[in-house]
Amino acid sequence: MTAPRTPYEILGEEGIRELTHTFYDIMDRLPEAAPLRAMHAEDLSPMKEKLAEYLIGWMGGPPLYAQKYGSVCMTTPHEPYHIGPEERDQWLLCMNRALEETGASEELVEMLTIPLFRIADAVRNREGPSSATTDPNIIAAS
Ligand code: HEM
Repeated sequence: MTAPRTPYEILGEEGIRELTHTFYDIMDRLPEAAPLRAMHAEDLSPMKEKLAEYLIGWMGGPPLYAQKYGSVCMTTPHEPYHIGPEERDQWLLCMNRALEETGASEELVEMLTIPLFRIADAVRNREGPSSATTDPNIIAAS
């Protein structure tokens, strides 16, 4: 048997849906991801569906998101949000935990680590923290 070439071949559509649901459930309960959670609507079910459709295509399966929404560009839908390194890292933390919780193999984690960082960093649209998380009363002490 030949080795699987894409994450889609390893997980299948159901596995990617499970990963996505777990991702948002983790975002919903992880204190470190609270600022990321607060950026999202109260009901995460529409996002579970959208991200699953997106990732199914991105991981090498049928392009469900592209067929439905006509684009796979992730820059435009994220424009309204402040996404700096902290938000990016919270997103990646939830995704890494979701891979762990769903029992992803070492092979799969290895396949995904760099591409996931690249896509999350591509969605980033700021250099630093949001003003809400910057305490204006802190005087730079060096
Ligand atoms: C890097 C940090 C990220 C942050 C802070 C972030 C945040 C958000 C927020 C706040 C929304 C709107 C949710 C809502 O309407 O309730 C959204 C939408 C979305 N995000 Fe992200 N996101 C990030 C990364 C990513 C990445 C890496 C992907 C893909 C792999 C992704 C895929 C999506 C999709 C598919 C949507 C729905 C867009 C649509 O309306 O069609 N996000 N994101």
